[in-house]
Amino acid sequence: MKTVVSGIRPTGNIHLGNYFGAIVNFVKMQHEHQCYFFIADYHSLTTHPTPADLNDNVRKVLVNYLAAGLDPEKSILYRQSDLPETAELYLFLNMNAYIGELQRVASFKDKIRTQPNNVNAGLLTYPTLMAADIIIHKAHMVPVGKDQEQHLEMTRNFATRFNNMYQTPYFPEPIAFSFGEQLVKVPGLDGSTKMSKSENENSCIYLSDEASAIRKKIMRAVSDSGPTEPNQEKPIPIQNLFSLMKIVSKEETLQFFNEQYNECKIRYGDMKKQIAEDMIVFCAPFRERILELESDTAYLQKVLDMGAEKARISAAQTLKEVREIIGFRKL
Ligand code: ADP
Ligand code: TRP
Repeated sequence: MKTVVSGIRPTGNIHLGNYFGAIVNFVKMQHEHQCYFFIADYHSLTTHPTPADLNDNVRKVLVNYLAAGLDPEKSILYRQSDLPETAELYLFLNMNAYIGELQRVASFKDKIRTQPNNVNAGLLTYPTLMAADIIIHKAHMVPVGKDQEQHLEMTRNFATRFNNMYQTPYFPEPIAFSFGEQLVKVPGLDGSTKMSKSENENSCIYLSDEASAIRKKIMRAVSDSGPTEPNQEKPIPIQNLFSLMKIVSKEETLQFFNEQYNECKIRYGDMKKQIAEDMIVFCAPFRERILELESDTAYLQKVLDMGAEKARISAAQTLKEVREIIGFRKL
């Protein structure tokens, strides 16, 4: 049995990218491994949410986790800020993280471009905080989408650096994990290759979306005027429609539209209607559970309290050992 850790920043509801990139693997892994799944609320402070939004978004992620099938008896579900040991380990890791390597991280460079007025130190040290989340439980595997690969590589660097510095094989080197052979990337509805809430709200379908919202968004998804030659290569927005269809529709349906495309007979309106109807069927059970759970504050709080208690056992043990290794010892 391996140790698994992963988390999602609380920025609102969970979309299909989060689900297929990360949560689907959480749900499967909880049966086979010791799993820690958390809500990365410290991380979300880089965008300066109001206290009310922060709290509301933590609730949303927790509800989505549970609605997606995470079982608080099987895996340890907690809120990152309920584990202040994480902040202490983050401090230690920051002492051996170099400004240059942090500045070269792709997600940091993106933020400089997209939010030049808020390039804070928390953004720069995002990878050390993420490494602290992971190695605090000595994780072996981290289920995440493809966009997190570089962060995982940094985590391995920080873990080995610590081991080398103190000459002890203390932290394992964790790997990014997905049940398919490859890490997943779910495309957006806006013609971009990644469904992403932080990049474009309109590119996303949420598990909590109601039928009418799903229909509206999919009918508006970017397409083009159609192929002009048989077996033409598909431009990205069209590949995206096929990828979304692959996720929610039957194999025959996908094949049918693929043939229509190859024979230049495709009508994107029909294809989108089909994706929308299949998507509605896919999301409906999630939505139902979300509606049931979201008002049960007492239960949700109980889940967080139970998770915090269990997660702190492993975190406190790691910090005790790490302090000792570093040299914070009795005189
Ligand atoms: P967003 O880009 O919407 O802000 P996050 O960065 O909060 O999403 O991602 C949370 C988790 O979901 C991460 O593990 C990430 O890899 C995964 N994820 C997000 N978007 C996608 C996507 N389009 N395809 C696959 N995985 C994704
Ligand atoms: N960086 C991740 C994201 O943007 C969230 C995250 C924070 C995380 N700490 C983590 C994921 C630890 C896996 C493990 O989605």
